[in-house]
Amino acid sequence: MHDTAIIGEGRGANGEGRSAGGDHRSGEGRSTSGEGRSANGEGRRLDIEEIRRDFPILGTTVYGYPLVYLDNAATTQKPLAVLTAMDEYYKTINANVHRGVHYLSQRATDACEASRVTVADFINARHAYEVIFTRGTTESINLIAACFGKKFLQEGDSILVSGMEHHSNIVPWQMICEEKKATLKVIPIDENGELILGGLDAMLKSGVKLVAFNYVSNALGTINPAKEIIAAAHRYGIPVLLDAAQAIQHMEVDVQDLDVDFLAFSSHKLYGPTGIGILYGKEEWLNQLPPYQGGGEMIKTVTFEKTTYNDLPFKFEAGTPDMAGMIGLGAAVRYVQELGLANIQHAENELMTYALDVLREIKGFRLIGNGDAEHRAGVISFLVGNIHPFDMGEILDQQGIAVRTGHHCAQPIMDRYCIPGTVRASLAVYNTPAEMDRLAAGIRKAVTLLG
Ligand SMILES: Cc1ncc(COP(=O)(O)O)c(C=O)c1O
Repeated sequence: MHDTAIIGEGRGANGEGRSAGGDHRSGEGRSTSGEGRSANGEGRRLDIEEIRRDFPILGTTVYGYPLVYLDNAATTQKPLAVLTAMDEYYKTINANVHRGVHYLSQRATDACEASRVTVADFINARHAYEVIFTRGTTESINLIAACFGKKFLQEGDSILVSGMEHHSNIVPWQMICEEKKATLKVIPIDENGELILGGLDAMLKSGVKLVAFNYVSNALGTINPAKEIIAAAHRYGIPVLLDAAQAIQHMEVDVQDLDVDFLAFSSHKLYGPTGIGILYGKEEWLNQLPPYQGGGEMIKTVTFEKTTYNDLPFKFEAGTPDMAGMIGLGAAVRYVQELGLANIQHAENELMTYALDVLREIKGFRLIGNGDAEHRAGVISFLVGNIHPFDMGEILDQQGIAVRTGHHCAQPIMDRYCIPGTVRASLAVYNTPAEMDRLAAGIRKAVTLLG
């Protein structure tokens, strides 16, 4: 049992004072948008060179070249604030959470639960106990697929995903559909890398039990009209899971404003540690779902005859959690809040515009997806002439430039465009125009060598 008083809010163990935090602030006064801004509410221009100094790895060299790290959609680098928080945890607090009355266990519990409140504030969850710690986006989606599927999916039903999903938002649904003899339906995408929403209503009417799609595509960078799709699904009483793995680091994500039922993201794409992530769920949905895994922490009482389950969020957090990860994620969120997501988005949009301009000057450059910088986030997926993405990636790597090549765990998109894969340069707040110039020069060198 976790009958300790937890987090700054000073809540107790049960009822209103459940340990993961009771009512949480809504709408007004969110630190997500409130901080990182100047006094007059205008966006603040970020000092990117100063930000870069927070990330020790950005000062390193690769094959004698200063590192240009453009694989941020795969994972972001970590600022000192995160590294220090995790180091301090192991040096001064390390103890198992929720179970101990001793000092260190209480401190570990307080620190982890404070991170939960930080995340709840960040995404504007109504309650901190609607925030579940998981291993990442993949586990969050698997959790909902398994638990929602077990409770609500029947033969003949369907799950609706989009044609631009990461495999993590396809395969868990395929698995549960197969088990329940349900079908997986797909919202198609057009040549421009946008969802074709004309047939959405007709699809929603045809036995769909849940809609799952990504806010931002990891392979194309497209920002999907999440609010519109969620509202359409709700008109038919259908819940929606939003995969925010590629959105949460680039733009404000407000679960109440979106009115989304479930939201998943990974810490490691948000400047936090690997191995930890978030599942947000509306209380009314999470309370209806059966637990995902059995074990410690998710129970209230256990006898050999019967087990009763714990309240949210612990019902979905079986076993010893990744305490250092929770604390690291909290530090990452605070770091991002201090910069201000609106400021980050502004800086990244400018960089995206610059990057597209310099890359388009390269002969044979072909952008895959939407060419409008305002409607994309983070990702530039491209091909150059007939050069295989893998060869391009290798030559860039030899020049200290880290990009990703291949299908980016989104094979159906590559099939849609009839291509084997792309080269993907993905941006974070610490990238600079000078790095975009290095990328363009690196591509030109590859064209000279291979073209
Ligand atoms: C859109 C999207 N969804 C899901 C995932 C899976 O994230 P993770 O591997 O952190 O669970 C990724 C990772 O690249 C992603 O980009």
